[in-house]
Formats: sequence, C-alpha cells, structure tokens
Amino acid sequence: SRSKYVANSYFLRHYTSQALAFKENVQETQISKLLIANRGEIACRVMKTAKQMGIQTVAVYSEVDRQQMHVQMADEAYFIGPAASEKSYLNMDKIIEVAKASGCEAIHPGYGFLSENAEFAELCLGNGLVFVGPPASAIRDMGVKSTSKRIMSDADVPIIQGYHGEEQSDSRLLQEAKKIGFPVMIKAVRGGGGKGMRIAASEDVFLEQLSSARREAKASFNDEVMLVEKYVDRPRHVEVQVFGDHHGNAVHLFERDCSVQRRHQKIIEESPAPGISLSTRMKLGEAAVRAAKAVGYVGAGTVEFVMDPEQNFYFMEMNTRLQVEHPVTEMVTGTDLVEWQLLVAQGNPIPSNQSEVNDRLSGHAFEARIYAEDPDNDFMPGAGLLTHLSAPNATPNLRVETGVRQGDEVSSYYDPMIAKLVVWGKDRSTALRGLLRGLGEYAIVGPDTNIKFLQRLSKHPSFKLGDVHTGFIDQHNDALFPNKDGKIRPRVACRAALAYFLSLPQPSGGDPFVDCSDFQINIPSPTSVVLSVDDCDITVVANPCENGDYVMTVHGDVNEGDNEMLVSGTLDRDASTSSVYLSTSIDDVIMKEKIVIVPGTMGVRNAEPDTIHLYPTNGDESVKFTLKLPRYVTQSAGGAVSSGDPVAPSVGNIIKILVEKGEQVAQGQPLVAMEVMKMEHVIRAPHDAAVESILVDVNEHVEKNTLLVKLVKK
Ligand SMILES: *[C@@H]1O[C@H](CO)[C@@H](O)[C@H](O)[C@H]1NC(C)=O
Repeated sequence: SRSKYVANSYFLRHYTSQALAFKENVQETQISKLLIANRGEIACRVMKTAKQMGIQTVAVYSEVDRQQMHVQMADEAYFIGPAASEKSYLNMDKIIEVAKASGCEAIHPGYGFLSENAEFAELCLGNGLVFVGPPASAIRDMGVKSTSKRIMSDADVPIIQGYHGEEQSDSRLLQEAKKIGFPVMIKAVRGGGGKGMRIAASEDVFLEQLSSARREAKASFNDEVMLVEKYVDRPRHVEVQVFGDHHGNAVHLFERDCSVQRRHQKIIEESPAPGISLSTRMKLGEAAVRAAKAVGYVGAGTVEFVMDPEQNFYFMEMNTRLQVEHPVTEMVTGTDLVEWQLLVAQGNPIPSNQSEVNDRLSGHAFEARIYAEDPDNDFMPGAGLLTHLSAPNATPNLRVETGVRQGDEVSSYYDPMIAKLVVWGKDRSTALRGLLRGLGEYAIVGPDTNIKFLQRLSKHPSFKLGDVHTGFIDQHNDALFPNKDGKIRPRVACRAALAYFLSLPQPSGGDPFVDCSDFQINIPSPTSVVLSVDDCDITVVANPCENGDYVMTVHGDVNEGDNEMLVSGTLDRDASTSSVYLSTSIDDVIMKEKIVIVPGTMGVRNAEPDTIHLYPTNGDESVKFTLKLPRYVTQSAGGAVSSGDPVAPSVGNIIKILVEKGEQVAQGQPLVAMEVMKMEHVIRAPHDAAVESILVDVNEHVEKNTLLVKLVKK
C-alpha cells in the first residue's frame, strides 16, 4: 500500500501537466475493492460491472436509505449520516474514512454528488485512494465555464459568442447582453442540469431573469457568478462521449442527442443523433477528442455542444464524469463504459483505439428517464411510496437501470428518477418501437410519473422523424398535453369492471342470483360497479350468461358508441415477473394488459378508495379507475385544501416571502418562492385578494399541499 501511495502522489504532482509524460511511469494500481460514493441506479449500475470484474463492492448510505437496493447489492455497506446530502453523500471526510477503514483501493463517484468535485478527487489521491474519474485539474478547468471556453477556443474547438467576464454588475451584464443581441441565455458559471439558467427574450426582462437565475444558483451551488451568451434558435443538444487514459490516448464514442428537455433537463436521449451527416459526425468526434486532449483528460467524459439547424456546433461545456445517459452509447458501441473506467483507473490503456470504436458502431439506441413527477403540473418533482412497480423484462436489446423496487420510497431528498429504460434496435424506427413497447410494459402506482408523457412523446410524428430541438415540448405542447375532457370508451370501462370482478374473493356457497349452471367466474349476478376516471362517473352492470360470458352494459360519462357488449376474460399471473395480466374478449376482440388493483381503506377518515389500473401492452396509455365509495365516506373525508389556495405544490423549502401581511395582491402576483428539488417555483395569487396572514417562514421545510398564505377574497 505504501507503493500505491507513492504512485498516487506522483500522479497528484503531475496530473496538472500532460498525461503523456507518464507513459513509461504509470504504475498499475490493482482495484480489488471499490467504494461507490453514490446511491440509486448509478450505484447499482457501477456495482454490476464491478462484480463482473471480480471487484468487491462497498456502498454508503444515509439515514433514509438503509433499505435501498444499492445497500442490498453491495458486499458491505456503511452508514454515513442524515438524509440531507450535505451531511451524507457529500460528506467527503466521512466517505474517505469509510473507504480506508473498509480496505478499498478506489472510489467511484457515480454522477452528481461528488463526481465533479476537484477537492474530493485530490482528497482521494492524498489518502492513497484511486479516484475513478479525471484528474482534479481537468475537473477544475471544466467546472468553470469561462475557463473551459477559453481552453476550448485555444484548442480550436468552436465556441459560442458570449460574455464570461469577472465583472458581474447588473449594468455590465446588461450591456454585454445588448452587445451579443437578444435573445440571450443567462447561466450560472458553476451551473449544471438547468439550474441557475434563464433565457431573456428581450432587454425588458433581462434584469428580472438575472436576479432569478442568481437566486437559484446561490441556493444550488452557493455561487452566483453568471455568464451571458447568444441564445441559438431551435438549438439541438448534441454531446460526444470521450475517453482518455494515463498514456495520453483519447477516443470518442460518437454522439448522443439529448435535445428533448423539460425545465432544461434531459428526458429522452438517443445515439446516434438523428439526421446528422457523416461529415458532421466525424467533425464532432474530432472536436471532442481535441477538447479531451486539451485538458489531459483521463476516464469517461462528455463534451456538450449546441447545434443549430445548419448543423454548425459550438462547445457548451464538458462534463467530467459518467453521464446519466451513457447506456445509449454502450448499446450502439457494444461497450461497458464502467468497465473502461475501472480499467483506465488501474493504469491500463483504453481498450479500443478509434478505428476499432468506429467499426463497432451499430444500430440505434434510446433512453427514456422515468421520473416521479407530474407533467401536467409543470413537471413538478414528486416523491412517495412505490405501491406497485413492475418493469418490462430485460432482453439483450432492452435494459432497465434502476435503484428502486416495489415497496421502496422515492425520497424527496434526492433526484426523483425511478428508472432509465434503454432500448436498442437495428435502426432508429425499430429502436423507437421497442421503446414504446417497453414504456407500455411499465406499471407504477404511487407517485405520479411521466410515463404517459413519454409515450406521447415517442409517438409524436415529429419525434418519429427525428425533428428534435430543445424547444420540442413547447412547440408540440397541444399534442403532448391533450385536454383531459376526453371521455373513455365504454369497452375500456368493461375491462376495468371485469378486472375488478375477477379479483374479488370467491363468494362462499351458492348465490341465489346466479342462473348459469357452468358459471366459470364467480360474479354475483347481476352485479354492478361504479367507477370514476378523470371525474367521469361510469356504471357497469354485468349479467352472466350460460356459457360463462357476460353481457355488460355501460352507463354514464363515456364516449358515444355501443354500450352493451359480450365480455369474457381471465386473470393470469406471470410466474417470472409476478405481474398480473388481464385477457379480455369483448365481442370477439381479444386484448391483453397488465393490471394492478390497489385495495383502498374504506370507511375511515381520509379514506382511500380502491383503484384499478390498466396498462395496455399495445402502447395505449394506462387508465386509472377509482372505485366510487358510498357517499357518507366521501363526505366525511376531509383535510384537503381546495386547489385554488396558494399551497405548496410539492415538498420543499421556502426561499422567499414576496408579500406582506395586509397587502392587496392581484391575481397572478407572486406570493412565495420555494425550492423543490433545487428548482425555484413561484406560487402566485389565484385571484385578487388581501393577505390575511403568512403561514410559513423563510427556510421552512413544508410538505405538499401546505397552505402558505391565507388570502381573503376582495
Ligand atoms: C487499432 O488497433 C488495431 C488492432 O489492434 C490495429 O490493427 C490498428 O492498426 C489500430 N489503428 C490505429 C489507427 O492505431
């Protein structure tokens, strides 16, 4: 271990110069035990490869993560502190201490948390531990956007027009913005993931957007230095995967298109980028390799470019870590990038040279990020218990990367991603069909998810054509957020009713109303059920007939059409996944879908009704039915605040109170700014009113639906 330390301190002194110099001096550090300083899917992802390489794995966990999947997957796991990440997953000293005490040679930081923290990379080396990532100097150079742009410009990598200066007064930034020309992008120099980033469309709104970006940057990174740059119209976000080693080699593994974003955060990614000419593809790759070499890059990195409609591209930033979306690159290049990271960290050269990588490029891959969030409420992050969770079966062409299982909690303390669905196909349209199929196999009950939104997105004609840009969701808003007033078809209600009847306990003894002697399924007869879906009430009456089929009639708020039909079906449990499938035959058309029935809590205060969820495997959107309760139960359930009141849209912290007691406010006026998952949200007055009282304080942690301000209507 002494020799390791000597080797590492050698790296420490020399990484700031050129990696080339070590060619003869690299001493291999065997990694036999690895600490993963992360949680969730990425911790599980890293451990999977480590195990395949025969490397022992050590997990760390916070107070709320004791039962998490990454803890159970690891060979050993150590408690590192309270839920708040500053006290656990960002607690550098504690993590180093665990790594040393448990006998690890190396630390993999995953993404997020400490992955782009130069101080942590140095701390690892100083303690004789290999940091599975680039040299601290590269992290530092790329972490400050103004520095990174200067380095890239020197290395002949195209960059975009902008102001990256030190003077940060409002007037100077405004003057620079005018010089660049509106619209401009205001971005936190230390920013990332869309945080601390605003677009100013014109001079009028510049200062307002600037102060909002500063506030968010201050909260997220404790730094409010801003840069201003030209805003590209219909921009695409195209990024290149690069890899460097200690021997001075660098290769690229082609590009990913991550243009479709909400709140400036990626939602669906693909490789290769659609519609890009071969010459652009080669130029992108070469520019990215120049970028990697310019900073002596080692390990996995991503060079992000913004691309205009003419396929001109400009350097945006370099992410000095493994990206969330790395699996699409793995799928099209047949590589395991975590394996590459661990090999390179041990002093080995990159396993393939550029021409070998080029030869491996095959097919097309998509990744969809499945989040606990509410797309209909501005993609508000969600949290909560995963009452039911079933995913598509993994195949060589379909991967599910996740860190949660049914019964786990999506914690409000961390990123609300539930899983990444990654699909490969021989061409783009095959891969896209596979993605839709996979999304249709997902069944999640608990927090709201973006699955239906992802289905609409993947079916959208412009997405199918690959006509993507970062404003895609805004441009196609109407198609992606259809009106909720669409009623369901009577036959869908019959399927839900059948699922419900089939799931009921078998009645004991004979039922005087059953008039069929060879009755296959025990439905008391005739019987009915009242369901509601999106505030439409539907009654389904089922009459069994002699052959075991039912004649069902549907009444209420349903689509026009035939509302009497012949229905039969079965419930089957898939032994391998334990998912339950409903096969229904309606007027001889047979349909298969995953179903989930969540038993409610009838008759108690705040009663929850039974819910029935249908997940058609044909890619149609899932439908949630609520079983209507007797009226007295509904009336006694209380506590919910009516939707018009200014309430917290999700759990989070109050940042700023924008009104005073007694103040008259106009409809739409900002009342309170709060932070949800490090994003700022402004809660506005629902109508003209007087502020009677303010019910929260700055820095207070509030639960979803907490009333924030009491208003009296004028
Ligand atoms: C890449 O590696 C292959 C196989 O080892 C070798 O044949 C080829 O010459 C190398 N290409 C370059 C450009 O170094």
